[in-house]
Amino acid sequence: MSNRKFLGICGSLREASRNMGLLRCAGEVMPEGAELAIADISELPFYVEGREKTEAVSIFLEQVKSADGLVLAVPEYNYSVAPALKNALDWASREKGDILAGKPAAMMGAGGGMGTSRAQYHLRQTCVYLDIRVLNRPEVFSNAFSDAFTENGSVSDTEEGKKLRAKVAAQMKALCEM
Ligand SMILES: Cc1cc2nc3c(=O)[nH]c(=O)nc-3n(C[C@H](O)[C@H](O)[C@H](O)COP(=O)(O)O)c2cc1C
Repeated sequence: MSNRKFLGICGSLREASRNMGLLRCAGEVMPEGAELAIADISELPFYVEGREKTEAVSIFLEQVKSADGLVLAVPEYNYSVAPALKNALDWASREKGDILAGKPAAMMGAGGGMGTSRAQYHLRQTCVYLDIRVLNRPEVFSNAFSDAFTENGSVSDTEEGKKLRAKVAAQMKALCEM
């Protein structure tokens, strides 16, 4: 039993985002007692040094501070991390108090044939600098264009969808045991 509260951050702002579907799935399969809230990063402005925080930024930073860990849904854009996710982490990285350091985290992604592995490995490098403790395995790489997802981006009830749900569940269990 884990009483930890995790924060999910998705790098896609698209309505039918498969990566957001993965995060919703993660919330559903969390081990008993653990919870996953999903951050709304759609209103975060582009990080510029010296720029005043907006209300959306302050809310997001508070959510990061109070979270026991992170679940990062990592879309792959042009072989790397989608900018909305990097921007959210950039905001958090500049907040006083090193609010990301030491947080356990899991990452997952839905994309083309490589399942966002390239983007996830790029993001792992960023996490080294931020001292975010990313779970090594199990990894979750999924195909956004497969039957594992419904049209609205949720993980489906097909065989592929069930296998993906089981992988996400195994990852959330491992995250809670970190
Ligand atoms: C600008 C852009 C670049 C992309 N580059 C890649 C890529 O390098 N690798 C990949 O697997 N998919 C790539 N895709 C396809 C995305 O993986 C696909 O659109 C995916 O569904 C996006 O995630 P979402 O459903 O959460 O929005 C790209 C999509 C966009 C819009």
